[in-house]
Amino acid sequence: QLKDNTSIVVFGASGDLAKKKTFPALFGLRKMNLLPKDTRILGYARSKMTNDEFHDKVTAYIKIDEKDTESKKLLEEFKSGLTYVSGGYDGEDSFKNLNDNLTNAEKNNASSGKKANRLFYLALPPSVFGSVSEGLRKFCYSESGTNRLIVEKPFGKDTESSQQLMNSIKANWSEEEIFRIDHYLGKEMVKNLLVLRFANVFLDNQFHKNSVDNVQITFKEPFGTEGRGGYFDEFNIIRDILQNHLMQVLSLITMERPVSFSSEDIRDEKVKVLRTIPPIKPDETLLGQYVAGNDKPGYKEDETVPKDSNCPTFAAVALHINNPRWEGVPFILKAGKALNEGKVEIRIQFKDVTSGIFSDIPRDELVIRIQPSEAIYLKTNTKVPGLQMSALPTELDLTYKDRFEKAVIPEAYESLLLDALNGDHSNFVRDDELDTAWKIFTPILHWIEGKNGGEKPTPDSYEYGTRGPKGVEDFQTRFGYKRTPSN
Ligand code: BG6
Repeated sequence: QLKDNTSIVVFGASGDLAKKKTFPALFGLRKMNLLPKDTRILGYARSKMTNDEFHDKVTAYIKIDEKDTESKKLLEEFKSGLTYVSGGYDGEDSFKNLNDNLTNAEKNNASSGKKANRLFYLALPPSVFGSVSEGLRKFCYSESGTNRLIVEKPFGKDTESSQQLMNSIKANWSEEEIFRIDHYLGKEMVKNLLVLRFANVFLDNQFHKNSVDNVQITFKEPFGTEGRGGYFDEFNIIRDILQNHLMQVLSLITMERPVSFSSEDIRDEKVKVLRTIPPIKPDETLLGQYVAGNDKPGYKEDETVPKDSNCPTFAAVALHINNPRWEGVPFILKAGKALNEGKVEIRIQFKDVTSGIFSDIPRDELVIRIQPSEAIYLKTNTKVPGLQMSALPTELDLTYKDRFEKAVIPEAYESLLLDALNGDHSNFVRDDELDTAWKIFTPILHWIEGKNGGEKPTPDSYEYGTRGPKGVEDFQTRFGYKRTPSN
């Protein structure tokens, strides 16, 4: 349950992620009255800053309407509860100093006999996960209460490095205490997948090789790696999006029904399906890299990117699930930066209608749009209303903004931080889940990076602001996809 008397320490507090996501989400929870009043929030980073500078920095991305006086007041209150501590990511002194700050902040509640709970949030590069998690366990662990550690991706670069990273954290923290964030698991529509499938008999029965021809999971972003070229060149689109965000979506739409909604039962089923997927093959992969277009610079024009980089900013891969439900159904995962639009969706394309009474009729397709504008729609053939007998492709449409006009859809990070405070692991990545996902992608990553001694492949170029490399259509067609009307 929600822990009171908790201190939340955000590491990497002046970094982009903390500013753009973590602190706004904590404020969001405060606004929804979901953070107990006695929760203390501390920011921790290397740079020296006053508390005031820190407050301005981490609240810069919290947007409040000028007229919304209540939220403005709440923000001032929220700021006054934020403390900044500067220190290093290794060495005893820094952690001892942090512990003194925490003990001091907990003093009032300690005298009332309450246990002190601590939640450490590591918005840090993986190179310091080991030293920070060790320092925290040794010097900042609350003996009286519950301790939790939230870790942000990237969790390694391949199977081996991920295992090393996992072991370095697990040397000091138990799996029960570790929460590995994949923020896609906090998105409303991703959380809906379990309900959609297992609370609807008609749908779940159709999620099967007898009915489904192919499935596409697509991530499109309309901007490039501007400002993040250094990071991106090391990680590429596969590690940035496919191996984590899109694989999470894939496991939720393909897993079998869990025994219960407990986090272990859900994650057991996810791991089971992932284990049936063989590693992706280079000849079932399409890579792309964007060049200048539409007045925007190309990937390699970023100064932090090596001029001979073959880093893919776009990738499409085909996955195969070797179990009785999905055998023979290709799953096409596609992700790209600097494309023509921003969109994340799942497209489940059903088989052709048997020819005979209808000819040349489009396939049914179930589209689950994760963002923007959450929606589920089923492309369906229906009779044209009137006296004639002909079929028309149309849609059964559940667009959230029309159907749930007043619903407030939480931010992914709000949802996940609340889960972590409540100790619920369902929407966090378990160690074996992570390991299995890496095994599927490691061979193509090594191929791209020439690690097996072979020549590095050259990605196809595509112009900034377009639909990706020219071969995308053919790639999709090769795995059975047929374009249906109006998409
Ligand atoms: C992050 C990636 O994990 O997800 C980014 O590192 C990407 O490159 C982001 O832009 C996308 O998240 P969202 O929530 O905007 O779809």
